[in-house]
Amino acid sequence: MSHKLPLNQILQGDCVQILEAKIQENSINLIFADPPYNLSGKPLDLANNKTGGAYYKMNEDWDTFNYEDYVTFTVDWLKACHKVLLPNGSIYISCTQHNIGELLVEGKKAGFKLNNILTWYKTNAMPNITKRIFTHSTEFVCWFVKGKNWIFNYEEVKEFNPHKTKDGNNKQMRDFLDFIEIPIVQGQERIKGADGRAVHPTQKPEKLLELIIKASSNEDDIVLDPFFGTGTTGKVAQQLNRQWIGIEKNEQYIIVAKERLKLRIRKTA
Ligand SMILES: C[S@@+](CC[C@H](N)C(=O)[O-])C[C@H]1O[C@@H](n2cnc3c(N)ncnc32)[C@H](O)[C@@H]1O
Repeated sequence: MSHKLPLNQILQGDCVQILEAKIQENSINLIFADPPYNLSGKPLDLANNKTGGAYYKMNEDWDTFNYEDYVTFTVDWLKACHKVLLPNGSIYISCTQHNIGELLVEGKKAGFKLNNILTWYKTNAMPNITKRIFTHSTEFVCWFVKGKNWIFNYEEVKEFNPHKTKDGNNKQMRDFLDFIEIPIVQGQERIKGADGRAVHPTQKPEKLLELIIKASSNEDDIVLDPFFGTGTTGKVAQQLNRQWIGIEKNEQYIIVAKERLKLRIRKTA
């Protein structure tokens, strides 16, 4: 394996293979992983569906597995991430109630220690179309570490907290917990195709990545995203003067991410 890391590049292919073949062991400061949640291809049972066909919330090839394959895939990429992370590195993994169980169990088996589960409250959550359960309005981000001495930039996280004292100073963390309110990506931030539709069904908010990158990395550190999608992690890492590596298997998303990343040029010292 070459010892030169492919910094500030998008690598096309399967993340497990690429992590094993191209990324040196113990070399990455921070990983943000937004894996497939395995929610696709499952029709929703709508009480008043008069359309004559099944309704799917998500229906993407890259998000469709049988359960055993999904667990095997989860184990494989978690192990590959564990290998490349520095001993004091962090991995943040986004998930929902649908896959958090598998991630917690397999994450611990892979050797990670759980530091926090952040709850992302989606202030503009999708409406309750089935009317049979409580409305889903949250996703989670599990923060695992590999060893001791992980980075937690407490002052930066305090700064990030939108609530300030009457004098405009940063508040203590008492009112900024492991609970974050951010809308689902919309407006200018949402990347749309020529048809005006979102190009990626699960584009993550830049604000979420800003918090994670500020909290658990420093300038010039390397931030890796094995499920790069539209490149949200790369864009925010660039803005915050971190180095980044993206891995994505879908060529169409890579084209979109490349276009998006051209918007910002890395600041030189
Ligand atoms: C949940 S999305 C990530 C979205 C991304 N966070 C964003 O803000 O745009 C997961 C991405 O992983 C990609 N993917 C799925 N399986 C993969 C694999 N084995 N290796 C690399 N990429 C994969 C999919 O094509 C999809 O774009």
